[in-house]
Amino acid sequence: MTAYTDQGQPPGQPSTEQARAALTALRHEVSKAVVGQEETVTGLVVALLCRGHVLMEGVPGVAKTLLVRAVSAGLSLDHKRVQFTPDLMPGDVTGSVVYDARTAKFEFHDGPVFTNLFLADEINRTPPKTQAALLEAMEERQVTVEGRPMALPDPFVVAATQNPVEYEGTYPLPEAQLDRFLLKLVVPLPQRDHEVEMLGRHASGFDPGDLEGAGLRPVAGAAELRAARAAVGATKVAPEVLGYIVDVCRATRRSPSLQLGASPRGATALLRTSRAWAWLSGRDYVTPDDVKALAKATLRHRIALRPEAELEGVTTDGVLDGVLASVEVPR
Ligand SMILES: Nc1ncnc2c1ncn2[C@@H]1O[C@H](COP(=O)(O)OP(=O)(O)OP(=O)(O)O)[C@@H](O)[C@H]1O
Ligand SMILES: [Mg+2]
Repeated sequence: MTAYTDQGQPPGQPSTEQARAALTALRHEVSKAVVGQEETVTGLVVALLCRGHVLMEGVPGVAKTLLVRAVSAGLSLDHKRVQFTPDLMPGDVTGSVVYDARTAKFEFHDGPVFTNLFLADEINRTPPKTQAALLEAMEERQVTVEGRPMALPDPFVVAATQNPVEYEGTYPLPEAQLDRFLLKLVVPLPQRDHEVEMLGRHASGFDPGDLEGAGLRPVAGAAELRAARAAVGATKVAPEVLGYIVDVCRATRRSPSLQLGASPRGATALLRTSRAWAWLSGRDYVTPDDVKALAKATLRHRIALRPEAELEGVTTDGVLDGVLASVEVPR
């Protein structure tokens, strides 16, 4: 007789508990390289669980690149990194058709986007044409070459980093396409004790260029992610919690500081991310606190301030804090 476990999955497939343990271990692996920044690490894991893309914003030198490199090192998945420079062409991302003199044929050479975890570093340093090529691939999970669609691998998750948009020499991502990112994570400056710990590691020989040397090992892969996703999909959401998600989104649409509130697509995104977070936290049901925990990361790039509010110094995070404080929480 086949030995199915109590979760009913076929042998060789990780159980829900094993998948959760692997993703917890992933967070531990990342902490071998990155001190603190737990919220950002959690956001990246939530994105992997939801098959969603992440935008990470922060000033230079707060370990945005290191974070994604560390997550990649902790996963046995294919990953590629591209530095988005001003002269990067769409074909440098998606691939291009080249003539092979030996076979006298035109052949498609895969670009770096054909991978599982794609790090688009400093995406807002590249002109709109190349940004558009990546945004299309993200949305459609395929690349079209001479009219022929080529599917990207599964999972395909983009982690894009950008410097704050007011920086010189940047091309802001098109507002209307920002919602292709499931989450926008804001990477803050480290707190003092984290920065001291980071310097201590450097003083004792830590080399951010050598993550293997720092002891990072792959602790999760496609099988764990598959099992985790199935479990996330089975996480229960009570009608009251669905109502709460909708009420939060509707409240953003009424906010006098906003010209654009969260759309129904934003509401579905918040449902997905809250579920993933609930499951990661060890529960099989979503609480309003899960929704609160993911609301800013999921909605901040899907709402737009009125110019007057912006001049008065209102921020999108401030508006979302106000919304979360005012919407009645189901009990
Ligand atoms: N929280 C942290 N933990 C460990 N190292 C850190 C941390 N913050 C910064 N560092 C150090 O700073 C270096 C710079 O990080 P990194 O290049 O990833 O920054 P970045 O945010 O991608 O910057 P840029 O916007 O210029 O690309 C890292 O290699 C690491 O040595
Ligand atoms: Mg960087």
